[in-house]
Amino acid sequence: MTSQPAEQRAAHKPTNPTPTPRHVGIIMDGNGRWAQNRGLPRLAGHRAGVDNIKRILESSVEFGVEVLSIYAFSTENWRRPPDEVTGLMRLLGLTIQRQLGDLNRNGVKIVHSGRLEGIEPSLQRQVRNALEVTKNNSRIVLNVAFNYGGRAEILDAMRRIMQEGIPPEAVTEELLSHYLYVADLPDPDLIIRTGGEWRLSNFLLWQAAYAEYYQTPTYWPDFNEDELRRALEAYAGRQRRFGGVVAQTINPGNSQSPATSVAQA
Ligand code: FPP
Repeated sequence: MTSQPAEQRAAHKPTNPTPTPRHVGIIMDGNGRWAQNRGLPRLAGHRAGVDNIKRILESSVEFGVEVLSIYAFSTENWRRPPDEVTGLMRLLGLTIQRQLGDLNRNGVKIVHSGRLEGIEPSLQRQVRNALEVTKNNSRIVLNVAFNYGGRAEILDAMRRIMQEGIPPEAVTEELLSHYLYVADLPDPDLIIRTGGEWRLSNFLLWQAAYAEYYQTPTYWPDFNEDELRRALEAYAGRQRRFGGVVAQTINPGNSQSPATSVAQA
């Protein structure tokens, strides 16, 4: 618990840049480099990364974000050294064990995007239990992309559609959306990537079709509330056109541009 006086704590309280994205996705990159810079093993970086998820989740609630999606382990991450893969699997199990009670008390609804097949049965049970325990919570949704790939998600959706014998003419974008790993989430408005790279890395390919992107060189364990505020402010100044020509400034007060203008998609 903090021993700061109330007025000092208030000064640190996030100011809410409005309107806030409903759904923020984060590609949490840079754990390994964060650790290496400190002469620590890569897994120490992942542990620090897990600690940071809790902080950013709380800040997201305070900023009014409804859904936070985090990219915790991709279908491509199996290519990492076996020690690191095993370490990441254990870390997920330990995190559920240690944090589930708190997350549940804090009203966090956990959902999982990804394949459970291929994951150790006891970890599968832990994940299923976390989803079940928190399913009625509504303060914020934490969508954990674990053993996740955007292409695999679309492929899995198509396979289920075909298995159910749905005729091709009935397969619409809306229908396919219902077959994604988590069907009833709003599309992400903002995708943040930490760690300095500019790639999407197979994250939420279908859902992020019209998301705004934000990149920062900060490594994930150092990405704090101020950094999140900066990302949300950058988002608030963007113009979203959704493929049309009439631009919508998300927060006209935060931009030099007029609220609507004719521009190319
Ligand atoms: C990339 O950093 C990050 C990941 C592989 C996934 C992020 C994982 C966590 C924050 C911890 C695991 C989360 C849970 C819920 C168990 P990197 O290793 O690619 O960093 P680098 O680019 O500096 O090498």
